[in-house]
Amino acid sequence: MRALALALAVVLIAIPAYGEDLENGEEIYEVCAACHGPYGQGGGGGVYPRLAGMDAEYLADQMEAFKSRERENIPMLPYATERELPEEDVEDVAAYLMQIKLAKHLPPIDVPMDALERLNQAKKVLNIPLAPGDQANGKKFYDTSCARCHGTQGEGTARGPLLAGQHIKYLKKQIERFVDGQRKHMKTKRDFVDRPATDITDLWAYLSTLDD
Ligand code: HEC
Ligand code: HEC
Repeated sequence: MRALALALAVVLIAIPAYGEDLENGEEIYEVCAACHGPYGQGGGGGVYPRLAGMDAEYLADQMEAFKSRERENIPMLPYATERELPEEDVEDVAAYLMQIKLAKHLPPIDVPMDALERLNQAKKVLNIPLAPGDQANGKKFYDTSCARCHGTQGEGTARGPLLAGQHIKYLKKQIERFVDGQRKHMKTKRDFVDRPATDITDLWAYLSTLDD
C-alpha cells in the first residue's frame, strides 16, 4: 500500500499543474492576426507591434494591463476583455506567440522550395529598416541606461521586453506615452526627458541595427 501511494505521488508530481495549449493559442491568434500579422510580425508600418518571439510572461502582463485599462489600447478594447479572452486563453496565446521564430532574411533563391512555401517564408521575414542618426552615440546611451533590463543586444531579459527587432514607429510611440504618463515605465522617465532630443533619435538609429 505504501509503495502504491508513493508511486502515485511520483506520477502526480510528474504531471505539470498547467500546460499551455499551443493549438488553442494558434486558434485564438487568428483574430489577432488581422492587425499583428499572420506570424505575429506586426504590421501597419509599426502601428501594430511585433509579438512573435516575445517573452510569454511579458505578453500576458500586457494583455492583463489592457483588460484592466491600466494601459490604454483603444483598437484592442473589443478583444481584451475577460469574456473574449479569459486568463487561460491569454496564457495559451502568449505561449504560442513566444515560440514563433521570425526570419531576418528571405531564404536564398537556390534553396529548393515550392512557391507557396516561399511565400509563407517571405511573410515570416521581419527586418527593421535602418533609422537615421548617430549609431555610436545611440549605443552609448543604450548601454548605460537601457541594456541592464532590455539586454546587451536588445534581446530582452526577465526585467524588460525585447527592443531589437521591434518596429521603431511603435517604440517611439511608447516613449511618448512614458513621457506623458499614459504608460508606466519603471523609474526611468527621466532618461527620456532630461536629455537632448538627438539622443533619442540616435537611440533609434542604434536599435534599428540590432536585428541585422
Ligand atoms: C484591431 C487591431 C488589433 C487587434 C485585432 C489586436 N491588437 Fe494587439 N495591439 C494593437 C495595437 C494598435 C497595439 C499597440 C498599442 C500601443 O500603441 O500601445 C497592440 C498591442 C498589443 C500588445 C503589446 C505589445 C508590446 O510590445 O507591449 C500585445 C501583447 C497584443 N497587442 C496582443 C494582442 C492579441 C493577443 C490579440 C488577439 C487576441 C490582439 N493583440 C489583437 C492592435 C490590435
Ligand atoms: C529597470 C529596468 C528597465 C530599464 C533600465 C529600462 N527599461 Fe524599458 N522597460 C522595462 C519594463 C519592465 C518594460 C515593460 C513595462 C510594462 O510592463 O508596461 C519596459 C518597456 C519599454 C518599452 C516598450 C516596449 C514594448 O514592447 O511596448 C520601451 C520602448 C522601452 N522600455 C525603452 C527603454 C529605453 C530606451 C531604456 C533606456 C533609456 C529603458 N527602456 C530602460 C524596464 C526597463
